[in-house]
Amino acid sequence: MSNALVVIKNLSNTYRTRSYGGFGREVIRPVLDHITLEIGQGEIFGLVGESGCGKTSLGNSLLGLIAYEGDIIIDGLRQNHQGRLKRSKALARKVQAVFQDPGAALNPAKTIGWLMEEPLRIHGIGTKQERIKKVDAMLHRVGLDPGYKTRRIHELSGGQKQRVCIGCALMLEPKLIVADEAVSSLDVSVGAQILNLFQDLHQSLGLGMLFISHNLHVVYHLCHRIGVMYKGQILELGTAQAVYSHPGHPYTQALLEAALGSELSDVSGQPSEGLYQKQGCSFVARCPWKRPGCGKTTPRLINIAPPEAPPQEVRCFLLHTEEGKVKK
Ligand SMILES: Nc1ncnc2c1ncn2[C@@H]1O[C@H](COP(=O)(O)OP(=O)(O)OP(=O)(O)O)[C@@H](O)[C@H]1O
Ligand SMILES: [Mg+2]
Repeated sequence: MSNALVVIKNLSNTYRTRSYGGFGREVIRPVLDHITLEIGQGEIFGLVGESGCGKTSLGNSLLGLIAYEGDIIIDGLRQNHQGRLKRSKALARKVQAVFQDPGAALNPAKTIGWLMEEPLRIHGIGTKQERIKKVDAMLHRVGLDPGYKTRRIHELSGGQKQRVCIGCALMLEPKLIVADEAVSSLDVSVGAQILNLFQDLHQSLGLGMLFISHNLHVVYHLCHRIGVMYKGQILELGTAQAVYSHPGHPYTQALLEAALGSELSDVSGQPSEGLYQKQGCSFVARCPWKRPGCGKTTPRLINIAPPEAPPQEVRCFLLHTEEGKVKK
């Protein structure tokens, strides 16, 4: 992609935990398994997958909140992989986050005006008057009356709190928003309003976005492209239209059925069980279509899109022929 806003190359990360009942021995848990993907300037990229597959870990790596291996380049700036402490201010301005629980992200003791002004204060932007003007304009932009400036968060509804969070995230005019389950805690109609707000902001500001959700249906409606994640790997990557209307991977098909109301019927077990394995397809234990060879070698991503269409890459042996070509 020539106009990439975000380039992620071979991103892997691990968590160190103490094992329960194992005499407190340190256990290294791999979480992200060599993820390579790009997000274009002004593109809304949806990352979807079940709980525990590593979506937040990927988002937090982009935000510089956790250490990782591999490369992350955002708008031409390479991020130091040691995490936030060494993050440059320039990079911090380019990427901002909106999280699931808007209440938890905001200091209840401060007014909305103070909270929204804070990023500008930290970065030493503008005079007091200029900052207040910017806060007023931002409140308007996220659909709130400037009168909300004097309120505190306990006086706001869930949807209004999320609007304030989005406003805070936009104060520094970032190029990328990482929205991690940003509508999951809201009821359906308020969630839909926030999705519309993201859509408007994307159109008016040309914002790029990593939109993380467990719901393929929600992601389809907002995003240009979708990555389907499982056990720290991308199993399918393509335009929202292609992934949603003709999913290539058995896991995407199961997720789609789940998003449309049925249970994850053909698959059982938990996505976080064992996290990613060293050998074979990561989905093999749950795959309804598995073959004897699927547990032995790891499938690579292959493009199943017709020649003129944008790529739709799928990591599944069912799509490989003996000659290594795509099965129609
Ligand atoms: N700080 C941590 N220490 C140890 N393990 C962690 C830590 N954070 C996450 N994990 C583990 O890493 C895996 C991926 O977690 P992550 O939060 O990235 O998943 P997720 O896809 O965002 O899930 P959800 O949809 O529930 O938010 C999980 O197995 C989780 O238990
Ligand atoms: Mg998460």
